[in-house]
Amino acid sequence: MDKEVVYDFDTPVSRAGTFAEKYEARERFFGKADVEPFWVADMDLPSPGFLVDALRERLGHPMFGYTEQYGQVFDAIGWWMNDQHGVEVDRNWISLSPSVVASISVAVQTMAEPGESVVVLSPVYGPFFSCTTINGRSVADCRLTVGQGRFEIDFDALEKHVSQPETKMLILCNPHNPGGRIWSRDELERLARLCADNDTVVLSDEIHCDIVYPPQHHVSMLGIDAARENLIVAHSIGKTFNASGLQASFTIIPDARLRSRFRAGLDRSHAGDVNLLGKVALARALSPEGAEYKRQLVAYLHENTRQVCDRLRLLEGAEVMEPEATFLVWCDFRKFGAWQEVFARLVNEANVALSGGTFFGAAGEGWFRVNCAHPRSLLLPAVDRIVDAFG
Ligand SMILES: Cc1ncc(COP(=O)(O)O)c(C=O)c1O
Repeated sequence: MDKEVVYDFDTPVSRAGTFAEKYEARERFFGKADVEPFWVADMDLPSPGFLVDALRERLGHPMFGYTEQYGQVFDAIGWWMNDQHGVEVDRNWISLSPSVVASISVAVQTMAEPGESVVVLSPVYGPFFSCTTINGRSVADCRLTVGQGRFEIDFDALEKHVSQPETKMLILCNPHNPGGRIWSRDELERLARLCADNDTVVLSDEIHCDIVYPPQHHVSMLGIDAARENLIVAHSIGKTFNASGLQASFTIIPDARLRSRFRAGLDRSHAGDVNLLGKVALARALSPEGAEYKRQLVAYLHENTRQVCDRLRLLEGAEVMEPEATFLVWCDFRKFGAWQEVFARLVNEANVALSGGTFFGAAGEGWFRVNCAHPRSLLLPAVDRIVDAFG
């Protein structure tokens, strides 16, 4: 491994003509095609060169036919989870999937019957709600509380929800999007125990688990004993390597019976595989070189999120959640009026597109999320424009 590689996250790279949703969907969502986009949670920072080279090398071969679920991918996943997150994963526990959201949808279909309930701790990533309702299951919305500037789980409310006979599953965002919380081992143990006692399957969405700021460490649900018999962990190279468009994701399910239930659902939808380039990327990214890229990326993002929080705090009355993980900053704009007015002012006066809080459920109303995975030279002036517009 070449330890000398220093990744350049400062130089802006145009995404014009690359089908990037963050850019192409601006007119549709914000009514303004040239608003500067800090919404969709992918990065305007380049994937590592060694990964691009591996993809290019594979593209040098002119056949792109059916692929086998070959061992390198499973070995790479096992290595990464052990090296980066300290958990032992048997390769038989792994299933491939095109995306974390696809896995969530299959989990909802296989772990709860129509009309039964799925608990979400909101505000939280919108598809936790939509995957549940689109499949005809009900959302049990358990609101997080805010204590000392960060989200906390209301365990009394959670116990009420999971003890309902119709509750079959809980979707956990670990670490949390949009709040950037690293849930502590104590919190995860308590949550796992409540779910185990009530026969509730936990789907732990750990897609943000690589972007964690020191001194924090990600605690995977795979390391919580009480969770093991009822657990689906979902992860992907999407966030860490800016590879969401490659659709390369996986789940890890230690319990054999739960795994076969879930896999039957994947099979019914033909959703249990990753495309050719996704496989190449998984096998190459989850490696020592990938770990070094991640280390440098996390340092860059940590500085970005810190500077964004410092600037947003200049807005009197705007509560800013400094993230312990994720490249996202969640900020309360309720003091500045109805969210629709704030949204219009962000777009028209500050020329920035942020994710609006209602995407994360009713509990997110009035809050906005800033994506900090952009070169600093573009990100910080955009945040300054927000501060000027509302200051
Ligand atoms: C918590 C969470 N889960 C899942 C996803 C999407 O993952 P995928 O593209 O693999 O469906 C996102 C993207 O923002 C996310 O924040």
